[in-house]
Amino acid sequence: MRGIVYTGTDAEVTEALEIGEPGPTEVKVKIEAAGVCHSDLSVIDGTIPWKAPSVLGHEGAGVVAAVGSSVRSVKPGDHVVIATLASCGTCRACSTGHPTWCIRTLGNVSTPFTFAGQPASNFAAASVFAEYTIVQEVQAVPIAPEVPFTSACLIGCGVLTGVGAVLNRAKVPPGDTAAVFGVGGVGLNVIQGLRLSGASRIVAVDTVAGKEDLARRFGATHFVDASATDAVAEIKKVVPHDPRAVPGALGPGGVTWSFDCVGHPAVLRNALDALDWGGTAVAIGIPPRGAEVAVDVNNLAYVDRGLLGCRYGSARPHQDIPLMVELYREGRLMLDELVTATAPLEGFRDIVEAMHEGKLARGVLTFS
Ligand SMILES: NC(=O)c1ccc[n+]([C@@H]2O[C@H](COP(=O)([O-])OP(=O)(O)OC[C@H]3O[C@@H](n4cnc5c(N)ncnc54)[C@H](O)[C@@H]3O)[C@@H](O)[C@H]2O)c1
Ligand SMILES: [Zn+2]
Ligand SMILES: [Zn+2]
Repeated sequence: MRGIVYTGTDAEVTEALEIGEPGPTEVKVKIEAAGVCHSDLSVIDGTIPWKAPSVLGHEGAGVVAAVGSSVRSVKPGDHVVIATLASCGTCRACSTGHPTWCIRTLGNVSTPFTFAGQPASNFAAASVFAEYTIVQEVQAVPIAPEVPFTSACLIGCGVLTGVGAVLNRAKVPPGDTAAVFGVGGVGLNVIQGLRLSGASRIVAVDTVAGKEDLARRFGATHFVDASATDAVAEIKKVVPHDPRAVPGALGPGGVTWSFDCVGHPAVLRNALDALDWGGTAVAIGIPPRGAEVAVDVNNLAYVDRGLLGCRYGSARPHQDIPLMVELYREGRLMLDELVTATAPLEGFRDIVEAMHEGKLARGVLTFS
């Protein structure tokens, strides 16, 4: 079987993968399309420590090939988006509608593959850079067969993460202002989540000036090229402080919401500094383990500023994936437009290079 394996130092396109049959609670999926998320690149460069060998990819869609004996919710032939949360369904977090807090969803590495005869683990409980994968029943979320796989796959991470950060975690009310740092696969979905929420001013920030067109197409009202200007100062020009407020150490002016979709402490610090009184920064990007950001506590405590972390858009996959499909089919959520490059597995390196150069919304690997 073909796939992309993380070898401990690099990623290798290989034909030396094998996979077994699903256990009683598992579903085997024939992958049709898989988006390349920055988190896959972060495994390869060591930012996200992971076991090797393992099969990369966690943003995928495909067709159910086989189901285990106790599986009831999907059957062979169903089209599914794969969610990365192999949540248990019975703990307090799951019972209260927060599967992203389920402790079973982190570190639950399994080894459904062999690579050159040796056991190979999965990544993010998904491993969709392979012709077939095996996931838990709860992760195989059925979708309408009309949605093209190249668009549907993106729901599995970038769309849920970005749109969910706005709708589920921040719960941005209409009329609020926002800044989005990083106009990649996640940031574009934060931008369209803000558009869906009715945000008034949406300031997109990227170090690649060429991202402006994409950002505006997805709903940004302003764009700041952070390679050429001071992003915080520019944001405060777009949303200046109330002239009656006294400027000072507590830094009035700026947006009510800011989203770090890059994963660098300096960007998160900018996201905090761009906030008006009462504003909240949402940390989505994943920096290396141990990364820290320094904050002037008075700037938070005196004026109700805050900082939230957000995993996987705080998603409830069986609620949010069908919702994303519904919004897409109504023409309210842009998925096809996110796909700016497609390639077979062998084109993985080209997609990675284009991502590093900031050329893509999303690159998608196809299998047939
Ligand atoms: N919290 C979660 O659940 C979750 C889920 C998915 C991805 N992520 C993380 O989100 C981040 C973004 O992922 P992605 O797939 O959108 O990446 P991407 O590579 O598609 O996009 C990143 C964008 O950030 C821009 N950028 C880089 N440095 C910048 C800077 N200093 N200031 C402004 N813009 C800058 C790049 O030009 C690019 O447009 C990664 O860290 C990824 O690991 C987190
Ligand atoms: Zn991802
Ligand atoms: Zn649970």
